[in-house]
Amino acid sequence: MDIWHIRGGRRLEGSCRIQGSKNAALPILAAAVLCPGRCELLHVPKLSDVDAALRILCHLGCRVQREEDRVLIDSSTLSNCAVPHSLMAEMRSSILFLGALLARSREARLSAPGGCRLGKRPIDLHLMALRRLGAEIREEDGELLCRTPRLQGSEILLPFPSVGATENALLAACGAKGETVIRGAAREPEIAALAGFLEAAGAQIHGAGSDTIRICGFTPRKCVQYRIPGDRIAAATMACAVVACGGDVTLSGAEPGQISAVLHFLNAAGCDIIPDNHALRLCAAGRPTAVGPVVTAPYPGFPTDAQPLLMAALLRGRGRTLMRETIFEDRFRHVPELNRLGARIRVQGQTAEILGVEKLHGDTLHATDLRGGAAMLLAALSAEGESVVLDEGHIRRGYEDLDLCLEDLGASITLEH
Ligand code: EPZ
Repeated sequence: MDIWHIRGGRRLEGSCRIQGSKNAALPILAAAVLCPGRCELLHVPKLSDVDAALRILCHLGCRVQREEDRVLIDSSTLSNCAVPHSLMAEMRSSILFLGALLARSREARLSAPGGCRLGKRPIDLHLMALRRLGAEIREEDGELLCRTPRLQGSEILLPFPSVGATENALLAACGAKGETVIRGAAREPEIAALAGFLEAAGAQIHGAGSDTIRICGFTPRKCVQYRIPGDRIAAATMACAVVACGGDVTLSGAEPGQISAVLHFLNAAGCDIIPDNHALRLCAAGRPTAVGPVVTAPYPGFPTDAQPLLMAALLRGRGRTLMRETIFEDRFRHVPELNRLGARIRVQGQTAEILGVEKLHGDTLHATDLRGGAAMLLAALSAEGESVVLDEGHIRRGYEDLDLCLEDLGASITLEH
């Protein structure tokens, strides 16, 4: 159990470097399976989800070495195409090994993935995409048994731009003969990052980042080097922290363009935003102003991952903010916890109404999931008095040294393992 101790009410000042992106690193670690040679990844964040992906790679027979933020993977020694349930259950992205293993070995055996509890989170679109490429998939006693004599390029139409299904389709398409076209693809920056890695590894991909992606071939290279881009949700988290607490903070390694939907609302809340080449300065003072309505949507819309974070920033807002969650059915689990601090949030169906209060007070909260847990930290930092956030490891799945980053900016926060 992680125990976060927070004494609220301090302004944040200084600068902070944005970690490598979790949601870019995880698919790229699965993609390393496709490169039977040396793969060097830089700026890999130190997260428990990344550790889980490295454990899967080791289990598959790959050689893995980690030095600080540099990870070396040699998958020429891959000897296994089954991932046990205990490893699958550690995170959602474990399902991406399905597409990668089918492309590399034409066979995979694994179970349903774990991950944050945000709603039903089925994998039907992943399986549909892989079947379109010629994978035979049987579900038996909770296991997915997948094989194919040969993946064949095809046209895949995603009825919803699922991030994971697009990534699995991209990975599998690299092992397919002929051209694959993914229509209705997710446009998140993490898709472009995965495509960037695959191109560096020898794939020919056009259109990643748009809703139509073409994969025209793959000739694996012996050596690949790739730098994981900055984490846009970690950047959004720090930006929301500045609005929650007030302050003057510069985030380096952030791409403002990737979080413009979040910055739009922070600016409307009264925060000055000064973008600078790969950096971003945020200045906020006093109580924020209510904004809205905020409606989550696939990229480039307002990210569902930032919904709890913006909510935390607006708890002391002047006025009423409405937030509608459209991506996950159950992504307001942090709300009752935030209300414990004196916030006034009412949830009706998929809409939350935040009635700003003048002051929040400290209390003991239970982290419900990764971003919900981070939102609780931000709210506690903006509350008067002491708070404790009890967390079964959700926050460290996605944030590297969040306590140290916030402490450097002047917050009073300590993490006890
Ligand atoms: C990715 O999850 C991210 N995770 C999530 O980040 C993020 O919240 C989500 O995309 C949306 O942006 C990673 O990249 C590792 P989806 P993913 O497939 O791929 C439904 C975080 O906090 N759906 O786009 O699982 C699904 O139920 C995390 O860092 C199907 O119905 O998201 C959901 O309602 C949490 N069938 C919606 O689509 C499918 O086969 C979006 O899911 C797949 C998805």
